[in-house]
Amino acid sequence: MTHFNICFTKCFWSSLSVLLTFSLTLWSYLSDYRPLHLMTHPYIKGESIALKVTPECRLSPSRRLLVVDNLNRSRSISRVLRAARSLCEYNVPTESRFDCARDRALSRAECENRGCCYVPLPTDLFGGPPWCFYPPSYPGYKMGSFVPTSKGRTAKLTRSKPSYLPRDIPTLQLEVAEETAGRLHLTLKDPSSPRYEVPLPPPPPEPSSGIQNPLYALEFHSEPFGFVVYRKSNGRVLLNTTVAPLLFADQYLQMSTSLPSRLISGLGEHYTPLTLDLNWTSVTLWNRDMAPHSNANLYGSHPFYLVQESDGLAHGVFLLNSNAMEVVLQPMPALTWVSVGGILDFYIFLGPDPQSVVRQYQEVIGYPMMPPYWALGFHLCRWGYRSTNETRSIARRMREAKFPLDVQWNDLDYADKRRVFTFDPVRFGDLPEMVQEFHQEGMRYILILDPGISSTSQPESYWPYDEGLRRGVFIRNSTGQTLIGKVWPGPTAFPDFTNPETVRWWEECIRDFHARVPVDGLWIDMNEPASFIHGSVDGCPDTDLEKPPYVPNMIGGQLNFGTLCMSGQQNLSTHYNLHNLYGLTEAMATYSALLKVRRSRPFVLSRSSFPGLGRFSGHWTGDVRSDWEQLRYSVPAILLFGMFGVPLVGADVCGFGGNTNEELCVRWMQLGAFYPFMRNHNDRPNAPQEPFVFGEEAQAAMRSALLLRYSLLPLLYTLFHRAHTSADTVARPLFFEFPTDINSQTIDCQFLWGSSLLISPVLEQGAVELSAYLPPGTWYRLHDGQPYRSKGQYFPLSAPLNTINVHVRGGHIIPQQEPALTTTAARSNPFHLTVALSAEGWARGELYWDDGDSLDTYERGDYSHILFMAGESQLVSDPLRMNGALDGLILGQVRVFGVPSSPKAVKANGEIVTDFTYSSDTMSLTVLSLSLPMTEEFTLQWML
Ligand code: NOJ
Repeated sequence: MTHFNICFTKCFWSSLSVLLTFSLTLWSYLSDYRPLHLMTHPYIKGESIALKVTPECRLSPSRRLLVVDNLNRSRSISRVLRAARSLCEYNVPTESRFDCARDRALSRAECENRGCCYVPLPTDLFGGPPWCFYPPSYPGYKMGSFVPTSKGRTAKLTRSKPSYLPRDIPTLQLEVAEETAGRLHLTLKDPSSPRYEVPLPPPPPEPSSGIQNPLYALEFHSEPFGFVVYRKSNGRVLLNTTVAPLLFADQYLQMSTSLPSRLISGLGEHYTPLTLDLNWTSVTLWNRDMAPHSNANLYGSHPFYLVQESDGLAHGVFLLNSNAMEVVLQPMPALTWVSVGGILDFYIFLGPDPQSVVRQYQEVIGYPMMPPYWALGFHLCRWGYRSTNETRSIARRMREAKFPLDVQWNDLDYADKRRVFTFDPVRFGDLPEMVQEFHQEGMRYILILDPGISSTSQPESYWPYDEGLRRGVFIRNSTGQTLIGKVWPGPTAFPDFTNPETVRWWEECIRDFHARVPVDGLWIDMNEPASFIHGSVDGCPDTDLEKPPYVPNMIGGQLNFGTLCMSGQQNLSTHYNLHNLYGLTEAMATYSALLKVRRSRPFVLSRSSFPGLGRFSGHWTGDVRSDWEQLRYSVPAILLFGMFGVPLVGADVCGFGGNTNEELCVRWMQLGAFYPFMRNHNDRPNAPQEPFVFGEEAQAAMRSALLLRYSLLPLLYTLFHRAHTSADTVARPLFFEFPTDINSQTIDCQFLWGSSLLISPVLEQGAVELSAYLPPGTWYRLHDGQPYRSKGQYFPLSAPLNTINVHVRGGHIIPQQEPALTTTAARSNPFHLTVALSAEGWARGELYWDDGDSLDTYERGDYSHILFMAGESQLVSDPLRMNGALDGLILGQVRVFGVPSSPKAVKANGEIVTDFTYSSDTMSLTVLSLSLPMTEEFTLQWML
């Protein structure tokens, strides 16, 4: 009885609300969306909500049709009331509606024919909750019983009636493997006919001893099929896929899950904050040549997310699938994966902390490569250095103005008729000599390499094309001819890097070019791949590959927009399946070629990306505009790429598109000094932005930012070693280090280097101070040791134009080195240590060091590794390994932050040191003029 009463009251108000909705919709539709309507109405819980119908009503064309259709069918009020009373509405709260009409707009009848609920809403009709949604327990697959396999267990899923999708697959094979204590692997595929699977090498073998104490518990629902993953320690539901049906058709695969919190990060590459918006947003993963802006699929695809749970724990999910994909986020909170092909191959990582999640993810996709030391220096580039002389003069002016510069770059300007593997005989005729000169100055040289190979070689021959054609290395169209698109040189063919013959040919092209121009690394651009003509010069066939029944919401609205035909034939599969892997496969081929040709650590920088890229390449965030907003969003962009296993990442410093200005460029150089990869790059038509073009004050600020970076390179290199060997992040979000600190959860305008340095850049025009969050603990201003004891508070910090705020975390020791104008020179300078004592008076740190360029130094044991420890008024070194590269290098200076009083004496290895200063304002001690060999143990004591 009580239940009936509640229901009656709810139904009444809700029916009224639906009625109002329809009246409003009808009225606004008939009046051509003109009037602005604002009203309130009582809602079932007695709250009021505002109804706003905007002039355009923000209706997509398909939604408009739906409204008309809806109106035609809903003229009678009794029908409206009937609909409103339907069970659907009460059993499914608005935020928990899962769209039953994602593949196409549906009328009420069509929706109900699918067995779905159709309940229009008074809220924003575009991009809001769906009107047509699944009722609870919508029929789906039924799971049979499990059978053990060598890797875990398997079961069949069958459905008695096909779903509403074309080419539905009625029987699926579920494979479940509890791979490690923190990693689960669930795969759904078609047992009767093999489907495309991403050719990622499998993760290392599972421990043979069996899993000890898994962090998860797994529960299956047999009909309709779904599974629930729990965190065993606290019973929290991390995933629950029973919230909506599993769909698996040839070109439409869908799975939904609830999320245990709203703090979700990942699913790149997009222009987003660090944590994503769950208010009915969707992100599309489809690699695209697209300058970063919101609501657009950009250059890379990373179907991985990390969720911060409410108590500092975290888990992650990776869907190993390279087809075009849309991920829909809704406020429940929940998420729906929709892919247009392949299989559903899920890895679930239980953490339990954020850093462990990222490590477990990288155990699957591969740990990042170790970059050469010089790659961490400053890089300077521009599209528009039109000759070797202009390029030389840029490097010379940098040197004269005393700006560190390690790597000079050239964009396409060098190439003869924009054809890669050639250089312009007039403007760049002495390119080989120029590169030699750079080398003699201790610098390196990199140039751009686009994948598109000019296909108009007649009448003169162009070896890469002619030879490539002969060896069949290019992607073919559906009729077997070379697929021709259009990029910078005009008509171009596209190497198929999934073909081993292409990899050999690519290596030969690089070997031959390198013999003439000894480049130190390669910048692989336009590798989504981008084409200025959609599909090919001959168009694309009219098939389901080009126009699948469902196309994720994407720039251009079709899969082949700005790229190749989906029917393009590659060695491993169609371009439809392999598109998102194009950049990764090119990076692999380029890395392997450089490795064989140069026999030292390869440097590759790729625009397009996919999981696993970090093993071969770094990434820059593409054509960012020179403005403050893009400066600000570059911070979450680099943090996310760290989580994606690509730690060597940076945005074009000072911005690529449009004119920069002095203040913006200073702030960008200061922030860029803390990008793991730092390159200033500019587009042709823009005002120059090399540091030396600005006024004295700006130049001084840029110079000091660069010198600060160079002084910190030993720390940065050690962090890259950690990334390479332990999958630690380099540029790190605050919540990785302070997972239980609520304030740290969403901060993405500050970040850390490793666990020890906190960077608080100025990201706003005109700002000369900022409010910086310092997580709980003691922090010291890097440049003078000024202490800040924080309970987890915001502090006002002064930030005049010449300042970037950097704080060292108490308890850490930072290895540094006196900077120089190149890393070649800096690497022989004296080391410095900055010791930031914890409140209890201790600190520790480490230095990884090797020759900076040879292959596999760590793997071969050719490195030095020193631990530094401080406590009880002394600092000691503990050389764990001492294998070369540190010979002749000394420790020249030590700063100790947090020393309570002026020391009476300072001793190094027992000998009195007289050259020291103490500041009672900042409580910091600086010991100068040391000359302690880095290869030997040392002790430094300060007697209080
Ligand atoms: C597009 C790249 O994103 C940009 O960095 C480069 O300068 C141009 N292509 C020209 O090569």
